[in-house]
Amino acid sequence: HQKKEGKVTWKAPSNIALVKYWGKKENQIPANPSISFTLDACATTTTVSYKKLENRSPEFSIDLFFEGKPKEDFRPKIESFFNRIEPYLPFLKEYIFIVETSNSFPHSSGIASSASGMAALALCLMSLEKELNPEMSSDFFNQKASFLARLGSGSACRSIEGDLIQWGEHKEIIGSSDLFAIKYPFKVHSVFKNYFDTILLVDKGQKQVSSSVGHNLMHNHPFSEKRFKQAHVNLKGLQSVFEKGDLDKFIEIVESEALTLHAMMMTSLPYFMLMKPNTLNIINKIWEFRKATNTHICFTLDAGANVHVLYPENEKDVVFQFIKDELVVYCEEQQYICDRIGFGAKQ
Ligand code: PMV
Repeated sequence: HQKKEGKVTWKAPSNIALVKYWGKKENQIPANPSISFTLDACATTTTVSYKKLENRSPEFSIDLFFEGKPKEDFRPKIESFFNRIEPYLPFLKEYIFIVETSNSFPHSSGIASSASGMAALALCLMSLEKELNPEMSSDFFNQKASFLARLGSGSACRSIEGDLIQWGEHKEIIGSSDLFAIKYPFKVHSVFKNYFDTILLVDKGQKQVSSSVGHNLMHNHPFSEKRFKQAHVNLKGLQSVFEKGDLDKFIEIVESEALTLHAMMMTSLPYFMLMKPNTLNIINKIWEFRKATNTHICFTLDAGANVHVLYPENEKDVVFQFIKDELVVYCEEQQYICDRIGFGAKQ
């Protein structure tokens, strides 16, 4: 039996895609499979307080707070999320909810909190669901949390567990699914067990294109079919990269994926340019430094101007020194976030 009232908290991390999800079908089904590193420092903490109503309400009853203050801006997104997940959590209208959220990263950092935020909320609601069904295994719990998070924001389904997470059907990845993410099932070389991601905040403003608009631009996109096939090929290519620890090939696939994501935006109608001059300055500096030092620094991008700088642990001192000396000048207010691969959400 569910408790009459209670409170539950989850902290869910953000993630950075190596093979990008860009383009979706109905019901948040990805047009191609993707894979990501779960992050550690960038995270959202959400507390859901719940109280059972005497009678089932015709509407959802949700109070929303962000960093201690009421936040009505989130309501449309949260209500549409609740509508989508209600068939799988039929008790949602039987409770009053207070949802309190905070992020570990600054408000306006250009870092999207939808993945970590939707993952944290899905996990809180799953904790309530688990009271109804206490026998539920932890695997089922995580899988359903990922399934629900996907309905909030596609990439959020990759923010439940760590450290290397795959989402979307791929014929050679047994257990892969469009409906939820899984832990990458193949062998992963120790070099990928502790990978660093320094996020350079080139533009801390709001995103120019929401990702839902972005995904929709892949419908009727002249290159979409080729792109979706390429994601399958790149995901397959990563299998031996991960197995052998082949960093050169890793860099090639990861940087190509980042540039392809932006190329898709530049070639859709309407078209978008989300990179800024300093994004390109940073990329060029990374290429020069890599050539000059034989280190394995590389970059990836989200749907924005910020640059994620990726590098293995055994190169962290020299690479981080270079980042501080040469790349931070290109950041807005010299701001950056030190992150690394992480192991998933925590209660
Ligand atoms: O989860 P959404 O709908 O915000 O889409 C995220 C898309 C990218 O971040 C650009 C790529 C990815 O796979 O995370």
